[in-house]
Amino acid sequence: MSPSARFDLSGQSVIVTGGGKGIGKVYAREFARAGARVVAADIDGEAAGEVASAIRAEGGTCFGLTTDVSDAASVATMARATLENFGRIDVLINNASLMSALPRRSFLEIPEDEWDAVMSVNLKGLFLCCRAVVPSMRDQGRGKIVNISSSRVWEGVPNRLHYTTSKAGVIGFTRAMAHEVGSMGITVNAVTPGYTLSESQVASSTGNYLAAQAEGRAMGRPQHPEDLVGAVMFLSSPASDYMSGQTVNVDGGKAMH
Ligand SMILES: NC(=O)c1ccc[n+]([C@@H]2O[C@H](COP(=O)([O-])OP(=O)(O)OC[C@H]3O[C@@H](n4cnc5c(N)ncnc54)[C@H](O)[C@@H]3O)[C@@H](O)[C@H]2O)c1
Repeated sequence: MSPSARFDLSGQSVIVTGGGKGIGKVYAREFARAGARVVAADIDGEAAGEVASAIRAEGGTCFGLTTDVSDAASVATMARATLENFGRIDVLINNASLMSALPRRSFLEIPEDEWDAVMSVNLKGLFLCCRAVVPSMRDQGRGKIVNISSSRVWEGVPNRLHYTTSKAGVIGFTRAMAHEVGSMGITVNAVTPGYTLSESQVASSTGNYLAAQAEGRAMGRPQHPEDLVGAVMFLSSPASDYMSGQTVNVDGGKAMH
């Protein structure tokens, strides 16, 4: 395989959950710029549609879908629509999550239904999306799954305890699933982003919190959505075909593990 083929994403059929906003929007745009055919699947279908229109306007291939990753029927529709439009599913980026909508507060104040909602989207959503795409990846004999966790897991960041717990679950899920599907030619890896200046994160953070975001990072600057794209693309490309069950930390060199 030529060096460039190892990193080639052109023609790949890529689903980005939560692809309507924030970091997922940037993944959708950058995968399309790399020549992939992209599905932006988001509970906010209008935002997903706008992402798809913007990508098509610059010559890329993308369609937007209203998808609730915590709903099995909705996720089945996502997989079916991808197969109908692109004929295959090569890459699943499990990026959808409940995060910025969650107030930062003591775990003693987290309502039980909010805890359940976070687990439903951030963990059950992962399970449902993987379950929906793996049969076609298995039939193809290859597939790439990238699960978005969080560097909170390494740092033990408090005050969104349900969120941090769910993102730790993403790592266990990734490791065990890697064993279940490796012989099918499917890799499953996770990425732990550091605090990233997505629109929603900025909107839900105070000035002091934002001002501290360069601190402790080897790179000496805050993290932007674009900083995550290279690692996610690597784990989606043939270059990472012998890597599975791994968690790659992308936080500008803050948590080192
Ligand atoms: N921004 C950060 O600092 C940061 C840090 C670590 C990890 N992450 C993770 O990176 C990913 C993207 O973060 P972001 O900052 O863009 O978050 P965001 O809140 O801006 O985006 C999340 C997206 O998921 C969608 N979504 C929510 N519930 C959904 C559901 N049930 N079904 C489908 N889509 C749903 C939202 O509409 C939104 O488009 C998330 O998994 C997040 O947990 C973010």
